[in-house]
Amino acid sequence: MTHPIASAERPLCVAVVGSGPAGFYAIESLLKADAQVRIDIFERLPTPFGLVRSGVAPDHQSIKGVTRIYEKLLADARVRFFGNVTVGRDITHAELRTYYDQVVYAVGAQSDRKMGIPGEDLQGSAPATAFVGWYNGHPDYRDAQFDLTTERVVVIGNGNVAMDVTRALMESVDELATTDMADHALAALRQSQVKHVVLLGRRGPVQAAFTTPELKEFGEIHGVDVVLDSGDFVLDEVSTAQLANEKVASRNFDVMQEYLQRQPAHSRSIQMQFLWSPVEILGENGKVTGVIVERNRLVPDGNGGVKAEGTGVRRTIATGLVLRSVGYRSVPIEGVPFDDRRGLFPNRDGRLLDGANGAVVPQCYVVGWAKRGPSGIIGTNKPDSVATVNAMKEDWPTLGGIADELRDGQAVDALVRSRCATVVSYAGWRCIDVHETAMGNAQGRPRVKFTNIADMLDVAKE
Ligand SMILES: Cc1cc2nc3c(=O)[nH]c(=O)nc-3n(C[C@H](O)[C@H](O)[C@H](O)COP(=O)(O)OP(=O)(O)OC[C@H]3O[C@@H](n4cnc5c(N)ncnc54)[C@H](O)[C@@H]3O)c2cc1C
Ligand SMILES: NC(=O)c1ccc[n+]([C@@H]2O[C@H](COP(=O)([O-])OP(=O)(O)OC[C@H]3O[C@@H](n4cnc5c(N)ncnc54)[C@H](OP(=O)(O)O)[C@@H]3O)[C@@H](O)[C@H]2O)c1
Repeated sequence: MTHPIASAERPLCVAVVGSGPAGFYAIESLLKADAQVRIDIFERLPTPFGLVRSGVAPDHQSIKGVTRIYEKLLADARVRFFGNVTVGRDITHAELRTYYDQVVYAVGAQSDRKMGIPGEDLQGSAPATAFVGWYNGHPDYRDAQFDLTTERVVVIGNGNVAMDVTRALMESVDELATTDMADHALAALRQSQVKHVVLLGRRGPVQAAFTTPELKEFGEIHGVDVVLDSGDFVLDEVSTAQLANEKVASRNFDVMQEYLQRQPAHSRSIQMQFLWSPVEILGENGKVTGVIVERNRLVPDGNGGVKAEGTGVRRTIATGLVLRSVGYRSVPIEGVPFDDRRGLFPNRDGRLLDGANGAVVPQCYVVGWAKRGPSGIIGTNKPDSVATVNAMKEDWPTLGGIADELRDGQAVDALVRSRCATVVSYAGWRCIDVHETAMGNAQGRPRVKFTNIADMLDVAKE
């Protein structure tokens, strides 16, 4: 008699690609299921935790405590970690489908959205993705350069990433030096001559995507004024209704009203300018010198909200550095269907589709930012991953199943190691973690991060 898959005799074999929050919540949900499972995690970096390590702001350390839950999952005997292994390069999508009953793509959104305006690619115009990765010690961005000799930086976008980036530029470096911010970023910020950050929102204060705690933090930065234009707070009808109905917008509005009452007292400032869209980034000799912005008015968007429409009124903001914080995009993986328009992996309820409206790709699933696009906080990923795991469970009776001789995982282990000599196991990650935290403790910091893959691999060998 053939035993069903996910039974003691034929444990379900699952590959989870990516070790950010979404991947771990999928693992948690799978391990809680009343079934026998074996899970392998493939992570392109030697270190786990995705944006919790390389996105969450260094001055928000308490948020990173969520990794304690993920550590427990990594330590589970049913879970193996294959760090420093890139799916699509070191092992293919087709191979995963040969070695695993089910494959979960939890690869997040590693790239940036473009605005599509002239000058976007000039030196001195960078996506927030790069700046955040740089100050957080992501190996891909350790050698990035940002011109902090400029007096004014323009940050485009009104989400929480734009808020994080602005704080990183304006907060006291002595305070940041008590965090796990990358040493190269601390050294550069110590030399920074940036006095003003202009934060540009294309819509009004009521439509801003940032949340109130982050807005309040601006007002607490020592030696920095928060400057607003009272003209931006004269609301149209739709915004007035939104303000009455939306709690976050209303709390934000109150905080900004309080900022409007403050008298400027410092030589450094955060200037929150609403209803302005960048239309061109200017440069000389290939390097940014300014941004042309256009005044917007708000018009109905046809869905009960408002969108920005240019009025033709333009001005130029002089700057040497523009940070574009207008959202993230997933990076395609060879052989895996991708929705280029939306910048994510096409799926229905977490089941991977062969194109935006295509058929279900058997055995394959998506969670997190790769599934729904770049929105939502860490906690948002939990119900999202549980929903995908529910779809996976529904599909168990229909699975053909991999060859039973592959089920113990030894063949895939040998394959990966034959392709990639420097696989980092869970024990390897523990070595990296112990070293980083020891270096941090010696300086009164939570950790000092390795930012170079070679250094991580050296330590992981121990
Ligand atoms: C700058 C920033 C700050 C944030 N701050 C907060 C905050 O303070 N609080 C909060 O609640 N939320 C915050 N968020 C949101 C939160 O980080 C996301 O909701 C969450 O990280 C998304 O999880 P994910 O697993 O989908 O993606 P990710 O966290 O991006 O994880 C994806 C993982 O997949 C790996 N990967 C990618 N491609 C491959 C491949 N081909 N092969 C193998 N591995 C691969 C990546 O290396 C990464 O480890 C922040 C987001 C950003 C961008
Ligand atoms: N502390 C935290 O909890 C924290 C920290 C960081 C990130 N996060 C979460 O991570 C997610 C991603 O954050 P995010 O800031 O990248 O994205 P976001 O919240 O979606 O904000 C994107 C911003 O970019 C603007 N924008 C988009 N296209 C633009 C264009 N062409 N020109 C000008 N502005 C443009 C948007 O304006 P419109 O609204 O007009 O489109 C919006 O203000 C969010 O869910 C966020 O809450 C949380």
